[in-house]
Amino acid sequence: MDKLLEFIKGRKSVRTFDNSAISDEHYNDLAEYIKNVPNPFGIPVEFKLLDADEHKLSSPVLAGESLYVAGVVEKKPYADVAFGYSFERLILHAWELGVGTVMIGGTMKREIFENAVGLKAGYIMPCVSPLGYPAKKRSIKEMMMRKGIGADSRISQDKLFFENEWGNALTPNESMSDIFEMVRWAPSAVNKQPWRIILKDGLYHFYEKKDNGYVRDETGDLQKIDIGIALCHFILGLEANDKKSEVTICDPGISIPSGVEYVASVRIV
Ligand SMILES: Cc1cc2nc3c(=O)[nH]c(=O)nc-3n(C[C@H](O)[C@H](O)[C@H](O)COP(=O)(O)O)c2cc1C
Repeated sequence: MDKLLEFIKGRKSVRTFDNSAISDEHYNDLAEYIKNVPNPFGIPVEFKLLDADEHKLSSPVLAGESLYVAGVVEKKPYADVAFGYSFERLILHAWELGVGTVMIGGTMKREIFENAVGLKAGYIMPCVSPLGYPAKKRSIKEMMMRKGIGADSRISQDKLFFENEWGNALTPNESMSDIFEMVRWAPSAVNKQPWRIILKDGLYHFYEKKDNGYVRDETGDLQKIDIGIALCHFILGLEANDKKSEVTICDPGISIPSGVEYVASVRIV
């Protein structure tokens, strides 16, 4: 449990790579892993490894990368949440191997990646990520970027996790506090951390607190991807605590501010 929390807190996005190719062992491991990366919505997320040179792939925020992974999902309700969940599983698996990643949903030439992945009608490719070994030092561009978005800090628990009603800070017991900490340290687009959880009648209800500019027709809602990531950390935390859970969609009808949307709930079984 402590190990998982430290592991989650220790993961950082990597934008500066060491120019080396990924080892055969790691390539084969990742190629196998991406064949089936589950999520609680039963919506298949398909991943493809793409050679950067072969497909002329790059991103203005990255340096030294030679391999990407792109994720594709059928456009339907909860596709973005499922996508975030599965992609985060992959990111944590890669980090365990020592392979660095960063979800890229904005800073790329989308058409080039969509062509490389062979995106079909009715499907979306919300994000991609480079896969590679972190360079010894971050580029100045990366350091400035991290500083600009406050990538090394997160919103405090009392502003994220509530009990019975919106805004009423939850006081979790020790094991749940660690699990909330894992959710708190999840990565999100521009580090906005749009997830909020309300515990009511034994269920943990997940909400999206929306910021402007994250919903796009062709790529879904980036902040719903963030909710999927948060959900992934929550469920991994429960599993590390020997707790089984199920995800249900059952809006409890709690009064919420405008700009907030109910997404899904977790019941510990
Ligand atoms: C859905 C999503 C989209 C993202 N898109 C980009 C992006 O386009 N460009 C980028 O440099 N970082 C992107 N990021 C990375 C975030 O900026 C990063 O996760 C956040 O600042 C927290 O930093 P950390 O991952 O090092 O903890 C994205 C992250 C997520 C979850």
